[in-house]
Amino acid sequence: ATAQIGVTGLAVMGRNLARNLARNGFTVAVHNRSPERTRSLIAEHGDEGTFVPGESMADFVASLERPRAVIVMVKAGAPTDAVIDELVPLLEEGDIVVDCGNAHFADTRRREEALRTHGLHFVGTGVSGGEEGALLGPSIMPGGSVESYAKLGPMFEKISAHVDGVPCCRHIGPDGAGHFVKMVHNGIEYADMQLIAEAYDLLRAGLGAEPAEIAEIFRGWNGGELESFLIEITADVLAHRDAATGQPFVDVVLDRAEQKGTGRWTVQSALDLGVPITGIAEATFARSLSGHVDQREAAQRAFPDAGEKWQVADREAFIEDVRRALLASKIVAYAQGFDHIRAGSQEYDWDIDLGGTATIWRGGCIIRARFLDRIREAYDEQPELPTLLVAPYFAEAVGAGVPSWRRVVADAARAGVPTPAFSSSLAYFDALRAERLPAALIQGLRDNFGAHTYQRVDREGSFHTTWAGDRTESPA
Ligand code: 6PG
Repeated sequence: ATAQIGVTGLAVMGRNLARNLARNGFTVAVHNRSPERTRSLIAEHGDEGTFVPGESMADFVASLERPRAVIVMVKAGAPTDAVIDELVPLLEEGDIVVDCGNAHFADTRRREEALRTHGLHFVGTGVSGGEEGALLGPSIMPGGSVESYAKLGPMFEKISAHVDGVPCCRHIGPDGAGHFVKMVHNGIEYADMQLIAEAYDLLRAGLGAEPAEIAEIFRGWNGGELESFLIEITADVLAHRDAATGQPFVDVVLDRAEQKGTGRWTVQSALDLGVPITGIAEATFARSLSGHVDQREAAQRAFPDAGEKWQVADREAFIEDVRRALLASKIVAYAQGFDHIRAGSQEYDWDIDLGGTATIWRGGCIIRARFLDRIREAYDEQPELPTLLVAPYFAEAVGAGVPSWRRVVADAARAGVPTPAFSSSLAYFDALRAERLPAALIQGLRDNFGAHTYQRVDREGSFHTTWAGDRTESPA
């Protein structure tokens, strides 16, 4: 037994992770259900490092040094369970099964518990960065036991992306913590992309600009506070022309966004935990709305001209307004995502380090961005920070952006340009900072129709008013 780690499931992500490990000097056992994939990996990339191909699962497992570490990189759901069932009888106490797919954290918790009864470690690991990241350095979010990290940590840290010499990998917390954090990462990814898409739409409507011109605006933004991978590739996609028609690429693509489910999971979990992640939820719903073609066509016919003509007087000032509104809305999305991680960590006893999580998102992952360093600083300075919005750097950026944010959202509403994520982020901000919310009226209504009781601003306890009777109030 010579291999330090194994990868089973050699579709593009598994194959690239295996190559990354081999290129970094680790001896990697490789296996795939149909052995042709294993053979082609060896034929095409065998010279990149030391691979130990296994034709059968038993050969593969036998080639691993103990404690064995096996990465499973197959489709989330039933295929993952099937591979685990095949592996478990071949493993021995102390061995480690690592699931690097996009699994739901509840499945990871279930699998971890089941494997623990066999004396095995199960490590649900979030991996972000797509195909290229897997090969050249992803952001890696392992959950599972501390013991398993002692074996995996040095390898994963080595193959991950690095920023300022710091690896974009750290132990997130027990059982499902890694997959939970990856799920929220994807939720933020949804919000980030929706905000970028709305900013593009605003620039197009407000300026009557062509995609290629807007690409230049994004390219400029990428040199400042908004610098991030998603802004960078936005410029790329907007500048691209379709070879067949010569049209801007964004004009020949169907305007229906798809989703594999991680955004939906994030929203579902936030509802369970009672965390208002409104930006992520709007982004997820915006994707579903885009797919409701019948409703969209019917509404287009019924309301062909709903808005005023948009005339932007000062081009440069408008672009700056959109930039500031985008930054402020983006800060809201990240603030909500980190609130969600904190709530999950409390609920499941994971003890997740928020600053540490921001650290490993600085490189490798899809939402990598300059301002993650600021998030790290904010939580390192004040771990109990009530919301990211009030940390000095973010309070300043949001505060400076408020007039722009209001102008953009108001102008868009007048012109009939939909900005679900921009406007709901602004509403979230205004609701958080409001001295009094109309929730008091909701309490009155609940007490009126259902005797659900309410609390008062001036006295302790719960109260009920006899609404149908003489309207006296009594303690409940
Ligand atoms: C990543 C990505 C990756 C992926 C998701 C999102 O972090 O590398 O998030 O996991 O692209 O599958 O896909 P959907 O948009 O289809 O949900």
